[in-house]
Amino acid sequence: MYALLADATCPRRPLNLDVTTPDGWLPEAVDQAPGRGLPVQVPSDDRYVVERFVGEGGGGHVWLAWDRRACRPVALKCLHVRYHDDAVARARFTQEAALTSALVHAGVVRVYDSGLLTDGTPFYAQRFVEGRSLADALNDRAERGAVGVAFDLLHRFARLCWTVAYAHEQGVVHLDIKPSNIVLDHGRGVYLVDWGIARRLADPAPQAASLYGTLGYMAPECLRQGTGAGTPAADVYGLGITLYEILTGQRPFQARNELMYAVKACHEVAPDPRTMAPGVPDALAQLCNLALKTEPEARALTAAGMGEAIEAWLTGREGQRGGGRVTRHRR
Ligand SMILES: Nc1ncnc2c1ncn2[C@@H]1O[C@H](COP(=O)(O)OP(=O)(O)O)[C@@H](O)[C@H]1O
Ligand SMILES: [Mg+2]
Repeated sequence: MYALLADATCPRRPLNLDVTTPDGWLPEAVDQAPGRGLPVQVPSDDRYVVERFVGEGGGGHVWLAWDRRACRPVALKCLHVRYHDDAVARARFTQEAALTSALVHAGVVRVYDSGLLTDGTPFYAQRFVEGRSLADALNDRAERGAVGVAFDLLHRFARLCWTVAYAHEQGVVHLDIKPSNIVLDHGRGVYLVDWGIARRLADPAPQAASLYGTLGYMAPECLRQGTGAGTPAADVYGLGITLYEILTGQRPFQARNELMYAVKACHEVAPDPRTMAPGVPDALAQLCNLALKTEPEARALTAAGMGEAIEAWLTGREGQRGGGRVTRHRR
């Protein structure tokens, strides 16, 4: 069976990828790549045929590719070319693939395959989610001036909480929860991606000085003591900032530079979301306030508790609006 599969290939629609420059750089991909405007090297492989650029973050590039052996589209995540010679980054990337594979949950995309592409690029192939990131959805809403309580996003946020709660039950913390790591499909699905700095709590903590993550979402204890201080409470903080952004269209702290941001986030109480957007319901504002306590011990809330609270609020509101039953999506 395996031999048959290995030999079989199934080409999809003709690929518009015959415009590679002599040094292997693809002009279209450069145009498609958002952000820094850096050229993006298109990976090449016998099995995975890259179709288009999907997104990037600090560690890698994600491409939509066609798996010619399994005959399905995949999200091909490749280690950023600048880390190809970095042993620590390569090991971390391998661990990301392994950790993601170990999490079997509706809110975590399934990993199909991992290794090195024909051109030597470290990769893992995962289920491709047709949709967009929560960051894109929030930007779109802001551009349309439609910031406010959005029931669909709150339903999805509750489901995200269940996914995080599942990871915590498995002894895994994500430590980089933020809208660009949350992918929404065209239905009601929500996926937490990028387990790149996640770790098992049972593993030795990284060196005290190491600091990974995204400043605007990082819990104060991680800013102060490094990523190793990240426990489930740090994920609750990331969920809190994300909820805050869903409700108000902005994050609680603004600062002119990274240092000033870190000082604020570590020492100031997050402004109540109702002061940023007056329509925010009391129950949801209180949830944010609890999740954003500066000290992790004061965040008397779990990811599961957050999910419960959001669902309870939605049930009450939808009951009032005659919206009928709210389905519980535990896992
Ligand atoms: N399985 C997937 N399906 C669809 N889009 C995805 C998938 N995984 C990631 N993405 C998109 O690619 C972007 C970058 O992926 P991510 O894993 O966060 O990379 P990085 O580690 O570089 O931050 C995400 O913001 C998301 O929009
Ligand atoms: Mg990311």
